[in-house]
Amino acid sequence: MLKTQGHLAGDMVHVLETGLEWLENNNPDGKRSVRGYNIVNGQLTTASDGSTFTSTNPARLADCLGAFPQSTREDVHAALDAAHAAFPGWAATPAPTRGQIIGNMGRLLMEHKDDLVALETREIGKTLKESGGEIQEAIDTCLFFQSEGRRLYGQTVNSELPDKELFTYRRPLGVCGIINACNFPSAVPFWKMIPAIMCGNTCVWKSPQDAPLLSFALARIMHQAGLPDGVINLVHGKGSGAGQFLVDAVDEGLVNKISFTGSTDVGKMIGEVCGRNLVSCSLELGGKNPLVVMPSANLDNAVEGAYWGAFGTAGQRCTSLGNLIVHQDIYDAFMEKFMAKVKTTNIGDSSAHPGVLYGPMLSQKYATDFLKGLEMAVNSGATQLWGKGRIESGNTPDNFHGDPEAGVFMWPHVFADVTEDMDCFHEEIFGPVVTVVKARDFDHALHLANASPYGLSSAIYTNDRLEAYRYKTGIKAGMTGINNSTTGAEAHLPFGGVKGSGNGTRESGIWVLEAYSYWHAVNDELSGKLQLAQMDVDEIETVEAEVDWSELS
Ligand code: UN1
Repeated sequence: MLKTQGHLAGDMVHVLETGLEWLENNNPDGKRSVRGYNIVNGQLTTASDGSTFTSTNPARLADCLGAFPQSTREDVHAALDAAHAAFPGWAATPAPTRGQIIGNMGRLLMEHKDDLVALETREIGKTLKESGGEIQEAIDTCLFFQSEGRRLYGQTVNSELPDKELFTYRRPLGVCGIINACNFPSAVPFWKMIPAIMCGNTCVWKSPQDAPLLSFALARIMHQAGLPDGVINLVHGKGSGAGQFLVDAVDEGLVNKISFTGSTDVGKMIGEVCGRNLVSCSLELGGKNPLVVMPSANLDNAVEGAYWGAFGTAGQRCTSLGNLIVHQDIYDAFMEKFMAKVKTTNIGDSSAHPGVLYGPMLSQKYATDFLKGLEMAVNSGATQLWGKGRIESGNTPDNFHGDPEAGVFMWPHVFADVTEDMDCFHEEIFGPVVTVVKARDFDHALHLANASPYGLSSAIYTNDRLEAYRYKTGIKAGMTGINNSTTGAEAHLPFGGVKGSGNGTRESGIWVLEAYSYWHAVNDELSGKLQLAQMDVDEIETVEAEVDWSELS
């Protein structure tokens, strides 16, 4: 039973006025457990009905990170009210000042990087190396947008009329609802909220249910960076609870933008709600990312890329490899090398075993869904070459490290003889699994790469330049790697998908600015009179002055 030991219970306290409040716990190794709070208008708040949920380390289920408010509709509305109240002041703050605060966030993340990395690994089980990469991606995003504060360019445009000037300005949309998944709990909310606040918007952030403590830590750091109260408001809870209440608020006219990363089904529902209210939404959804291996490829390099794409992050990236499409001429040679790696995969809790490729599933819920996905692959009729579901005592692969019962770990899985008519060819299975498809030739491989309902990431291994060209021009996807894996987008390139993977909006780099601002066209008539565009414009006629140019030839 969790019991409060601290001093806050009941009082309204500003997030920066206090440190962390500990809960009594039975965690192994004396690990701390906190009482977590929402942050609304800078104040620590609990759920209006007092209900809470806990966050658990998926590599060590006995390790509880804390208890967090299960936010109610009322709590979400309070957060929206705070965001609306903060909006005019924040939108009027000079963009370079907003940029300065964002720069401070990046520097604070650098200062606390090691602790945040360890916390992320403790909360969602990602390896320390990968958590390090992710916090770095959040830092990169802050550093990129810090200087955007000194640009955020609009244009001066020439008028067709004299003594008149035309301008374009980027304007903020208003209050943004931010909903992200727990697989990238630091980089992805920063991808969304940093450009949002750069453009002058305010936010209500619904943290992922499986990463509330890291989200709290990041939101606190944002306040420490000098962010005014109410600009970012944090509410914890379930997707079907607080997340849904935030989406419902679109119908209530309280939200001007939703940015969502998660499943295609939920994304479509959000798109419908936003669509009927003419509210902008950014949707980053599922993927069944194809990777093609052609005969001219460097096979060892292709094996490395496919293996990492499929099993890095325990396959829990939206950019993870889905369909591995191998040309028939090198199929046997490729698969021999690939399977040798799969069979020796190091798996375990990375905080105790630093060399592992991957750790646990993100949570018990992701484990349950993954096992259903495996069942679907089996029922599709694919050949199961490797993998035996959940890792348990008596069912552990050779290179599993630690106590398998301590967390939710999965075998790496390989399904071969997959064909286009199978469900497992089309459906994303979020976890350590790859479906292998044999291609007859390049055209067949490209056809297969385009045949799933998704279009997020994609890759090809080839040393034939024309093939690489034909792949990048023929594939329908938001991102493509040439002689590289499907994952690993950099923080300043546009990130996002087409088809079932999204609605065409992009995160990151300069492109994301389009998603958090609208263009305002202003004309300034200086002539002191009404001049009508198109009608009062000088018309210049061509002059009759014939010459016979053919005499010159
Ligand atoms: C995600 O899985 O939601 O490109 C984001 C990548 C990472 C981001 C993944 N930089 O794999």
